[in-house]
Amino acid sequence: MNEMTELASICTSDLTQTAGLGTGPVSCEPYRSPAYFERERENLFKRAWLTVGRVEQLPEKGSFFTKTIEIWNAPIVVTRGSDDRIQAFYNVCAHRGNQVVLTERGRASRFSCNYHNWVYRNDGSLMGVPDEANFFDLDKKKCGLVPIATDVWEGWIFLNHQKQPEVSLQEFLGDFGTRFAGVSWENTDTSLYFEAHLDANWKVLADAFSETYHIPSIHPATIGKTFASAVNPHSRPLDARFWGPHRQFSTFGNPDYAPPEDAMVEKMAYANRDTGNVLGAAETAGMTEYLDHPAINPKQSKHWALDIAVAFPTLHINLSPGGFWSHRFWPISVNRTRWEAEFHVPKPLTGREKLQQELYITRIAEILLEDVTNTERTQRGIEAGAYDTMQLQDGEVQIRHNLHHVDRWVNARTVREALGI
Ligand code: FES
Ligand SMILES: [Fe+2]
Repeated sequence: MNEMTELASICTSDLTQTAGLGTGPVSCEPYRSPAYFERERENLFKRAWLTVGRVEQLPEKGSFFTKTIEIWNAPIVVTRGSDDRIQAFYNVCAHRGNQVVLTERGRASRFSCNYHNWVYRNDGSLMGVPDEANFFDLDKKKCGLVPIATDVWEGWIFLNHQKQPEVSLQEFLGDFGTRFAGVSWENTDTSLYFEAHLDANWKVLADAFSETYHIPSIHPATIGKTFASAVNPHSRPLDARFWGPHRQFSTFGNPDYAPPEDAMVEKMAYANRDTGNVLGAAETAGMTEYLDHPAINPKQSKHWALDIAVAFPTLHINLSPGGFWSHRFWPISVNRTRWEAEFHVPKPLTGREKLQQELYITRIAEILLEDVTNTERTQRGIEAGAYDTMQLQDGEVQIRHNLHHVDRWVNARTVREALGI
């Protein structure tokens, strides 16, 4: 087999045409137009289900965490009530609008607003008002924390800005939700979280994690030798699949990779296994079951490095041999984004597992930082107006798919129309 034939036998080709997405250049306007951004806010981000975290972040009854969802201009608090129910609320006091919960996370059965001490239960109901007799017909039942539509899929907590969401979370996720159901997400006692603010459109950030064409140039020292090989020097993807606006991207891993002689820590961590790629990690309990799930490495390819599962629009879940990590891209303005990255790993049971995990997390963190180096420069280039379009190759099909569906939502009158259901 010559190298091109071998590559064709490993990597699915014509991903873009098979997906029916067209092959022409794509417009720069969605990345730089303030008017387009406002339409994204109203028609996409205020109508789609958005993930804010995982259930492990609320381990006990009374656990809570707070966040600001900039695209909604809304501070929120997510709680696990005494009935174990997970529910999000606007973190806004009914009295005069102060934020009620000021800490990032914790455990509490009640929250007290620090302005005039109105007290709320963690189910949102208003419990106590100092000097209540001096108010006028105050109906405490109508003055609770305002709930936000909340639902959970496979441990991921989703919120919807619509008071009565037009579609359920299940309808929104459709076949994507079915396909990734049952992945052993729960095997994730530990998480490591970081966030950064970048001067770039949210799609510039998402695009940076949506293709592997950049791997030989951006990551030569970290994963250049593991995500590319002599037979696949430009790191073409193994495969891409689409379910409405959601998608999966399977990336190539070099099965012949071995740690170099002088990489002592890497060699020690992986001395007992043939990882095939540098993102291979722990053999902790449940890892075999996780890797055997039919949605993971769907082609069962020995050239597999990891899958990127995207719950449109903002959640990227990266499923690798070591577990999974996730990103969320929160738009702040047309050219500013808050990026959240989170690693979810099981509790290590041996010293070697601990070492593998530490190596896995530091490696990926290093790679992610390499990924964002160009994002602010890219945004400035797009805004310069030198070009009105971008050129996308077949391996960048995920970017094209995202732009296509963003545009559908921006222009659709209803969520059902946007989803085509
Ligand atoms: S604003 Fe919260 S008690 Fe006054
Ligand atoms: Fe990258």
